[in-house]
This record gives sequence, C-alpha cells and structure tokens, in this order.
Amino acid sequence: MIHINTIEEWRALAAQLRSSGQTVGLVPTMGALHEGHGSLIRRAVDDGAVPIVTIFVNPRQFNDASDLAAYPRDEAPDLANCEAWGAAAVVTPSVHEMWPTTPTATTVSVTGVTERFEGAGRPGHFDGVASVVTKLFAINGPARAYFGEKDFQQLAMVRRLNDDLSLGMTIVGCPIVRDEDGLALSSRNVLLDAEGRHVALGFSRGLREATEQPRSAGDVRAVVRASLESSGIDVAYAEVVDPLSLEPVTPEYAGTARVLLAGVVQGVRLIDNGDVTIVSSEGE
Ligand code: PAF
Repeated sequence: MIHINTIEEWRALAAQLRSSGQTVGLVPTMGALHEGHGSLIRRAVDDGAVPIVTIFVNPRQFNDASDLAAYPRDEAPDLANCEAWGAAAVVTPSVHEMWPTTPTATTVSVTGVTERFEGAGRPGHFDGVASVVTKLFAINGPARAYFGEKDFQQLAMVRRLNDDLSLGMTIVGCPIVRDEDGLALSSRNVLLDAEGRHVALGFSRGLREATEQPRSAGDVRAVVRASLESSGIDVAYAEVVDPLSLEPVTPEYAGTARVLLAGVVQGVRLIDNGDVTIVSSEGE
C-alpha cells in the first residue's frame, strides 16, 4: 500500500491508474476508521476498482471548534486497517496542503437537500463538506466514489453535487454497518462511555420499533421519538422523509421512506437512519 501526503503525488497516481485502464475507487474519510469504512474499501475492491482512501479531518465542516478539537485522530491504526481492508493507497494531506490560503475564498454550496436536519443544526457544515468533496473529486479525476448511508443527508448532497456540476464520479452508497448490539458504527462512538453507549442504543431500537408493524408517517415519527426520549437521548430530530428529496412525507404518503434521526448523548451528536414502509393515514 502506498502512503502519500501531497496533492501532486495523488493526482499523478490517479492519472497513471486511469491511463492504464483502471478505475479508482475513491473512499473519502476523516480517519478514526472502523468496519463501516472497511465496508466501503471492500466494496471498491469487489467492484474491481483500485481503492484510494483519503484521510483528512476537514476543519471547514466543523462549525464548533470544540467538536473539531475532540475529533478522534490516530494515524497508525488507520493505515494498518486500510492495508488490511485492501486499500492500494492512502492520502493524508495536511490542512495547509488542502487549504493553503485561509480564509478560503471559494465555497461550494448545495441548496435544497442540505437545508433541514444536519444543515439546520450545524450551520456551514454542508458547505464545508461540499467544498472539500468537490476538491477531492477535482484532484482525483473521474472515478467511483464510496460513501456510507450512515450520513444519509451527506450522500444525497454528494449525488446532487456530482450531477449538478458533472463531476464525472459514479457515487456508490453503502449500507450502514452496525455493532452486534445494533449501534451504528461511527468514529464518534469512542467518545461515549459504557452508559452513553447504552443510551445510544435507543436509535437502533427506535428504528426497529418503526419497522415492526405497518405504520403511518405520523405514527413512525411519534414511536421513534418516544423510543429515543425514553432512552435518554436529547433528540434533535426524528423525521420520515422521501429518500431522494429528503422532504418530510405527507400524512397520506404510502410506500418506502427513510427515517432520519439525530440526538445528543453525553455531549456527542449522533445520527442514524433506516428504511421504513409507510401506510397511508387517510381515513384514520
Ligand atoms: O463523511 C466524512 O467522513 C466526511 O464528511 C467526508 C465525506 C470525508 C468529507 O470530509
């Protein structure tokens, strides 16, 4: 596995792979890697792509300085994991390498899908993500790019960004990976102690309860919120949305929808989501 730090080396590697007829499988990350990231790298391998992993804690997507400072960073295990999962190369650029002139004058902003949920709770977050993802895509050039469904709103935004700007990437969304107890894997889970972890299980329990019998959108919202609250999660939102537009579904809606959840446990903001089949509440 190759380990590089500069944009120049990475651009040259991606160009060389493309010119030899290979497809790069780009896996953008912020490090603190877990099996969820492993599943993205393995999926790239399964797709026949050459996995290039980027590890960059992008300051521009943190609207809270203490959140940025607390973000877990540990390069040695990340590199070892990348190698074990089948990465061909890992790029670990410095902040100066990525954003040489600060404050940065250029911001990429995607409207619509970013406005609610994480966008409302974390002002500037999605502009920071859209700006860095556009830069990563521009450096790498056309490739397949792998993102987890855990960050469902981010995935919807990246698809829109890629389509609107014809960035030439094939965006591949990969299912959430969960621990045996149901907790969705997240780099932030290490910030929870045993009690916090127990509380955080309210997310997966809420999603299970939402799907155990057919329910209307209103019922799902109420059931999930009650489950989160009774677990001790400080709920930020619990909403049932159209999986593409991320608009909340109407009370009459019937069909597949996505439940989006966020809340704070021990000062750590956590998110989760899952598919749910909604029955219409008409005539109730
Ligand atoms: O999902 C993440 O880890 C980050 O938001 C991403 C896509 C790597 C951009 O910094």
